[in-house]
This record gives sequence, C-alpha cells and structure tokens, in this order.
Amino acid sequence: MTEPTVENTENNQGNEEEEEQIVTPWDVNAKGGVDYDKLINKFGSQQIDQTLIDRFERITGKRAHPYLRRGIFFSHRDLKEILDHHEAGRKWFLYTGRGPSSGSLHFGHLLPFFFTKYLQDAFNVPLVIQMTNDEKFLWKDITLQQAREFTIGNVKDIIALGFDIEKTFIFSNLDYIQYLYPTTLRISKLLNINQVKNIFGFTDQDAVGKISFPPIQASPCFPESFPHIFPPGTDYSQIKCLIPCAIDQDPYFRMTRDVAQRLGAQKPALIHSKFFPALQGHNTKMSASDVNSAVYLSDNKDVVADKIKKYAFSGGGATKEEQVKFGANLEVDVSFEYLKYMLDDDQKLEEIRVAYGTGKMMTSDVKKILIELMVKICDQHQAARAKVTDEICATFMSIRKMNI
Ligand code: TYM
Ligand code: TRP
Repeated sequence: MTEPTVENTENNQGNEEEEEQIVTPWDVNAKGGVDYDKLINKFGSQQIDQTLIDRFERITGKRAHPYLRRGIFFSHRDLKEILDHHEAGRKWFLYTGRGPSSGSLHFGHLLPFFFTKYLQDAFNVPLVIQMTNDEKFLWKDITLQQAREFTIGNVKDIIALGFDIEKTFIFSNLDYIQYLYPTTLRISKLLNINQVKNIFGFTDQDAVGKISFPPIQASPCFPESFPHIFPPGTDYSQIKCLIPCAIDQDPYFRMTRDVAQRLGAQKPALIHSKFFPALQGHNTKMSASDVNSAVYLSDNKDVVADKIKKYAFSGGGATKEEQVKFGANLEVDVSFEYLKYMLDDDQKLEEIRVAYGTGKMMTSDVKKILIELMVKICDQHQAARAKVTDEICATFMSIRKMNI
C-alpha cells in the first residue's frame, strides 16, 4: 500500500521536548504563563490586529466583541478570507465542539461558546457543534454510558447559552458517526501513522483508537458531512468553514488544512482564544480534569466563593502594607484575569486595574467583585439550563432541514 505524503506546510512546529512551554489538546504547561506570541510563531498562525478588528466592526455593523477588543481571541488562520467570502455573499458555516469529560461546563468553556454565539448572531450563519464522546471514552477512565450521560448534560449547558435552534445542529459522535464516516475515511487515507504521531505526540503504547480519532474531529470541517444542511448537489468546494476554539485545538486543524486541498475542499479557517487560566495560576488552563482548577457552571454560591477565596492565585502584596505600598502584580493575578474575561463593563474594569495595580484595592476587594459576578453568571445559567427540556435537546440534535 502506498500512501501519498502530505507536504507538511503547517505542521512544522518541531519537537516539544526541549521547550519550556507545552500546549497540546490534552495538556497546557508553561512556567511563568503561556507566551502567546511564541505560540503564534511556533504554530504558524496569524495575530489578530487592529485592522482586522476594524474590518469586523465595519462588516457586522456592531462594536467588536470584548474578547476581540481585549485580545482574548488573539490569533487566526484565514480569517481575512472568511470576511472576503462573506462580503462577496458566499456561503460559510461555523464549527466548534466539546469533549464531554464532566457533567457540566466550566468557565473556560464559555470562551469559545460565547464567542461562537456572537459570531452566529453577527453573521447569521449555520453552526455545527461536535460532541466528541468517543474521544473522551478513549482518553479518560470513563465508560461509554458515562460519556453519553456527560454528553446530554453538556448539550443542555450549550443550548442554555442561547444558540439559534433554526441554525444550530449539535451532534454526538457516538450517534452521528455514520454520516461523518465517508469523510473520515477519505481523510484517514491521506494521512500516515507517522504524520499523526508527529502532530499529536502519540507513542506506540497508546490505544490504537487514539491514532484514528483526529480524522473524526477533522470531518465536520467539510460540508459533505452534513447532507441535511448542505444537500447533495450543492457545490461543496465553495463552502467555507470557520472554527472558533482555544488554541489547544489547533493541531487537529493544522492537520485538516494539510489534507483539505487534496480532498478538493476549502481549508478550514480558525479563530483562536487564549486560555482561561486555572485557579492556581497562569501556568496551565482551567481544566475539567482537575476539579480544583475549575469553577463549574453547576457550582453553587458557596462553592464558587470558597474556590475563589481559597485557590485563586493572588498577585497582591503579601501583607496589607505591602499591597498599599507596591500594588498588585496584575500579570500573575488570577482574579483580575478572570474579570478581564467576564466583566463586560470596560470602564469598571479599567478602574479596578488602576486601583488594584496601585494598591488602593486589596485582593479581597477584587475577589468579592469576582465572586459576585461569577455567582450571577452561574445563577443565570442554571435558570436558563433548567428550561432546556429533553425535547429541546432532541430537536437541536435531530437530523433536520435548517433555516439557512
Ligand atoms: P474540550 O471539551 O476540551 O473544550 C471545549 C472547548 O473549550 C476550549 N477550552 C478552553 N478555552 C479557554 N480556556 C480554557 N481553560 C479552556 N478549556 C477548554 C477548547 O479549546 C474547546 O474550544 N476535542 C475537543 C472537542 C471538539 C472541538 C471541535 C473543539 C471537537 N471538535 C472543534 C473546538 C472545535 C475537546 O475535547 O474540547
Ligand atoms: N442563510 C444564508 C443563505 O442561504 C447564509 C448562509 C451563510 C449560508 N452561510 C451559509 C447558507 C452556509 C448555506 C450554507 O445564503
């Protein structure tokens, strides 16, 4: 059997060993915090600059989302091409996903999903959301039954964020795989084991299921995977896809972009976010794999308050006197960082930045504001989620014609 080789144009990130920062879909570890400029260089993506943000505002006729203004969505691939395509009145869709490894989403997951909702509203395009319960079964110590249960719980969380039922299709890999399979096969045939090992760092001891998983996450980038949304007969080669995600997911899509051309398809475009840090600090991301690193949307008032007070790493002075004298180091302060991601009010954020940075506010003051905000978000979310019935869930996940 001969396999065509891929020109590794986008997979030249080299070996991870010697480097002080590790960013993969499964692990983020960077002493002193993730250096995002370095990551852009290493991954070969582009910085989102002010010109691009201005263009976003012009096209959508709306103020740019705070995540764009604050540099939280900071990197992209082919975003300009998506905007050109859109302005030419041509078709495109959004694709994002979630690997259900816990019963509830945490605050980190809100970044890509909030931003995806903003994009759907601003551009009025169809959206597909992949639930990779197969991936979590392979990677985590959970049963298929648990993976299915987590999926439904997470789908309810996602729906509660307000996606348009007329334009959003959510699918569970365990149930939808037959529709992806032809695309998955075509992708699998274009990649050899060595390439996938190099991109993802799999070893010969890894379960064989892992090495065959990446083409499954790649398949939804292509419209042929959704014949009920893009009926057969549509010219699939003209439909583009944009993927909002945190930058940990980029390896999957570097791989996908390398095979796209040979599939006669458009390369997927990407828009990447930074990581919502773990409570313990910027060295790693908030992760469902570490309960104490994360605040879940299902946490109650007391749990949220407790986690923030106990764990949120403080950049404030060690004593009240030191804080008053020197102010807080905002670069490492987790509570302030969370406010940057969660507080919409630009002016209030700026006031806190100045007051806390110069020692006029104490860490406990900032934590109090943060706790109130996070509790409010959790409460609102839980109320919205309680309204998402099994029927609504089933509709979002049903194979149906879309209003596009
Ligand atoms: P998962 O479940 O690990 O994460 C879901 C989405 O949330 C992002 N994310 C974060 N963003 C900011 N800060 C954090 N601390 C944080 N933790 C997670 C992830 O980047 C992702 O966007 N294999 C994927 C599921 C998937 C997918 C996709 C994701 C399938 N297709 C297409 C994005 C786009 C996974 O396990 O994601
Ligand atoms: N609904 C619109 C249309 O029919 C716009 C649209 C955007 C679209 N992206 C799409 C339609 C992708 C189909 C596929 O033109």
